Amino acid sequence: MTALIPTPPSIPFLGHVTSIEKEVPLRSFRLLSEQYGEIFQLNLLGRRSVVISTVALMNECSDDKKFSKSVVGPLVQVRNAVGDGLFTAYKDEPNWGVAHRLLMPAFGTAAIRDMFPDMLDLAEQLVLKWDRFGPQHKIDPAEDFTRLTLDTIALCSMSHRLNSFYRENSHPFVQSMVDFLIECNLRANRPTIVNSMMVGTTAKYEQDIKTMAELADEIIADRRKNQTDKKDLLNTMMYQKDPKTGETLSDENIRYNLLTFLIAGHETTSGLLTFCLYYIMKNPEAMRKAREEVDEILGDQTLQMGDLSKLKYINAIMRETIRLSPTAPLRVVSAIEDTTIGGGKYFIPKGGAVVINTITAQRDPAVWGEDSNDFRPERMLEGKFEALPPNAWQPFGFGLRACIGRPFAWQEAQIALAMIIQKFDFVLDDPSYELEIKQSLTIKPAHFYVHALPRTRKLRL
Ligand code: HEM
Repeated sequence: MTALIPTPPSIPFLGHVTSIEKEVPLRSFRLLSEQYGEIFQLNLLGRRSVVISTVALMNECSDDKKFSKSVVGPLVQVRNAVGDGLFTAYKDEPNWGVAHRLLMPAFGTAAIRDMFPDMLDLAEQLVLKWDRFGPQHKIDPAEDFTRLTLDTIALCSMSHRLNSFYRENSHPFVQSMVDFLIECNLRANRPTIVNSMMVGTTAKYEQDIKTMAELADEIIADRRKNQTDKKDLLNTMMYQKDPKTGETLSDENIRYNLLTFLIAGHETTSGLLTFCLYYIMKNPEAMRKAREEVDEILGDQTLQMGDLSKLKYINAIMRETIRLSPTAPLRVVSAIEDTTIGGGKYFIPKGGAVVINTITAQRDPAVWGEDSNDFRPERMLEGKFEALPPNAWQPFGFGLRACIGRPFAWQEAQIALAMIIQKFDFVLDDPSYELEIKQSLTIKPAHFYVHALPRTRKLRL
C-alpha cells in the first residue's frame, strides 16, 4: 500500500498558485517542507507536481532509467528565447543529441584548461577595477561578478569581448536577460488568458528576447566575417559534424545554444561567487584559512593553472557555498513509467512531475547533521567529500541532463575567488547585513554591498 502524499489546502482552478510567494518562491517551498515534511503535492494552474526535500528522495529520483528531465513551468517560457537549445530541449528532441555529442568534448577538462589565460585576463580586470576604485567605493559584488562571468563565457566560448568592465552600466543583454527570466517565472504562474491580456508586459518581454537574440546574431555574423581556426564552442557549433549522424547544427539551433550558454553560463557562476564572498565574510575563521592557503601557494605571484589543484580549502569553500545556496535551486524530473519512491511508499504515475528542492535537500540533517545550516567548508575537504552518500551534493543536476558547463564554472570561480582573496580585505557596507535572496530561475544574494581594501600586510612568501 502506498501512502497519500500530503497537499496543502487549495482553491478551485488556481490550485496552490496563491500559496507560492511571487518574489522568492523558494521561501514558500521551504515553509511548506517544514510544515508537510519530505514530500508534498502542489497543483499550479492544473500542473500537478510533487516536491521532495530530502537526500534519500533526491537520490531515488536521480536515476536516468526511472526519471527524465522535465521541461515544464518557467522552462517552457524560456524556450521562447532558446527553443530546443541544450538546457530547454524536450526529452526526445533530436537537436539535443546532436548538440550534446558535439559540445561535450568542447566542455571537457582539457578544453577548459586551455581557457585558463582568457579566464585569468578577465579576473584581472575585476581585480584592477576594485583596486582602482579604492576602499570608499561601494561594490555590488553580484553586479561585478556578472560582468566577469558574462565576459568570460563570451570570450572563452565565442572569442568575443563584451568589455563589460569598460561600461558604466551592465551590458544591455544582462538587463534584458534578468527581466526575461523573471517574466518567464511570472508567466508560468498566470492563467494563459491573463498573460494574453497583459499587452504592455508582453511587448517588453518580446523586446527582451529580441535584444538577446541580436547579441547572438551579432556574434555569429562576426564569426562568419572573421573566421578563425580557434577550437572554441562557436566554431564547433558552426562547422563541426555530429560523429553519429554527420549532421551540423542549424543556424537557428546555433543561436539557441549560443544564447543558452550566455544565459546558463553566467547567472549561476556569478551567484556562486557572490554567495562565496558573503559566506567567507560572515565566517572569519574560513576567511583566515582561505587567506593562509592563498598566501602559502600564491604569495604575491600571479596565479598559474598548476596552482588550482593545490587550492584545496578554496575548493571546499566553493563546495560548501553551493551546498547551502545552490544557485540553480530546483530542477524537475518526470517518471518514465509508473513508479514509487520513498522505498515503495509514494506512488508517482507515468509522466508525473517531481520537483527536486535541492536547496532544502542539501541541508537535510539526516545526512549533514544538526549543523546542516552552518557554513563549514571542512566537511567538503578531500576525503570527506568523496565519502558523502550518493547524490547528497547535487548542485549541477544529474545524469544525462547534468550541467555541461560544470568544469568551466568551477575553474572560472576558483580563479576569481583565489585572486580576490589574494588582493583584498573586505568589509560589509552595512555591518548588520544578513543574507537576503533574490530569485529568477537562479538565486543570488540581494542588497549585499561591500568595500574592498587592498591588503597592506606583507604577503608571506
Ligand atoms: C544544466 C547548474 C554553470 C550550461 C545545468 C543543471 C544544473 C546546472 C542544476 C541541470 C538543470 C536541470 O536538470 O534542469 C549550474 C551551476 C553552475 C552552472 C550551479 C555554476 C555554478 C554553467 C555554465 C554553463 C552551463 C558555465 C555553460 C558554459 C548548462 C547547460 C545545461 C546545464 C547547457 C543543460 C545540459 C543538458 O540538459 O544537456 N546546470 N550550471 N552551466 N548547464 Fe549549468
